Amino acid sequence: KLYPVLLCGGSGTRLWPLSRRGFPKQFVPFSGANTLFQAAAIRMATFVDAAPPVIVTNAEFRFIVAEQLGEVFIDPAAVLIEPDARNTGPAVLAAVLTLAASDPEALVLVMPTDHAIPDAAAFRDAVARGVPRAQAGKIVTFGIRPDRPETGYGWLELTTDPQDGLPQPLVRFVEKPKADRAAEMLAEGRYLWNSGIFLASAATLLDAFETHAADLMAPVSEAVRAARVDLGFLRLAPDAWAEARSVSIDYAVMEHAKNLEVVPYDAAWSDLGDWNAVWRETAEEDSSTITHGAVTQIDCVGSLLRSDAEGVHLVGIGLTDLVVVAMADAVLVADRSRAQEVKDAVASMKSNA
Ligand code: GDD
Ligand code: MG
Repeated sequence: KLYPVLLCGGSGTRLWPLSRRGFPKQFVPFSGANTLFQAAAIRMATFVDAAPPVIVTNAEFRFIVAEQLGEVFIDPAAVLIEPDARNTGPAVLAAVLTLAASDPEALVLVMPTDHAIPDAAAFRDAVARGVPRAQAGKIVTFGIRPDRPETGYGWLELTTDPQDGLPQPLVRFVEKPKADRAAEMLAEGRYLWNSGIFLASAATLLDAFETHAADLMAPVSEAVRAARVDLGFLRLAPDAWAEARSVSIDYAVMEHAKNLEVVPYDAAWSDLGDWNAVWRETAEEDSSTITHGAVTQIDCVGSLLRSDAEGVHLVGIGLTDLVVVAMADAVLVADRSRAQEVKDAVASMKSNA
């Protein structure tokens, strides 16, 4: 049986001002009715052989999670609450320990919830191709064909060019490379992007943590053992949790594991990492201007204009390659090519506050 684990404790700051510390992008309705988090939960519900999801989130977001699952009628197996954010390494380990307690052979499918994956059927096919490899003790990643030297992703090095979506062994996993390294890997051609989704048995993952991030085992095991049920949430024990090192699963395990494989994923995928990615996701051509909400635009080119504030009408005239996002209490105006720097702006606002 497949056990989905949905990670939704991150606080994506690059999509400020729509994504806020207290209400990050996975919980925001970008377009359409559902949020990315709801879409991820619904996608997993279309797997006939999957158990209800285990959700891992931050204490701050627990009521948002409960409300948004209720809206789409999804009843989770458990909602694990982290007393504070220690990145995805401890979060994944906590979920795996919880699942392994009842079934060590459980196949765990770990999913970020801040991605757009429009083709649920293609996704199910890719996962199905990975299942036998996960049963054989591999950690299966899902690789996306790169089209730019992205430094915000992990890169998967293959032995040969990816073929037909068939699983193949991984030479190396490189998390968030420097710009020149990313450009080399793009030119080389034998690399895919890490989608952040992975599939493995609970036993395989526990082994990987024990081998590559042994220091996490004691505090996270204790946090799970001493967890408390609280209003239907499973609250990890704060004292033990505080002892766990804050580290992503990518740095803690993936960069070191020797039993990685990759299933190439050719259908559409976007991590909507910044406003440029949001624009790219919907723009049909470089000259397309995307609007959302109460917006009037005249002769704008390659821009994203969005009003998310009730009663605020946004007007753009003759703009080129800009991102403009209006909220009731904040307005972003940025060159689209510099969308990554929104996170620096957010960081400096925090330190000035
Ligand atoms: N529960 C929990 N706790 N979830 C978390 C935490 C945490 O402390 N931190 C992050 N998450 C969630 C986020 O909400 C998101 O859904 C997912 O885990 C991934 O975290 P990000 O912070 O968005 O990671 P990233 O985008 O920098 O990098 C990862 O994703 C890339 C693809 O989007 C890596 O796996 C890269 O290798 C990958 O290319
Ligand atoms: Mg991300």
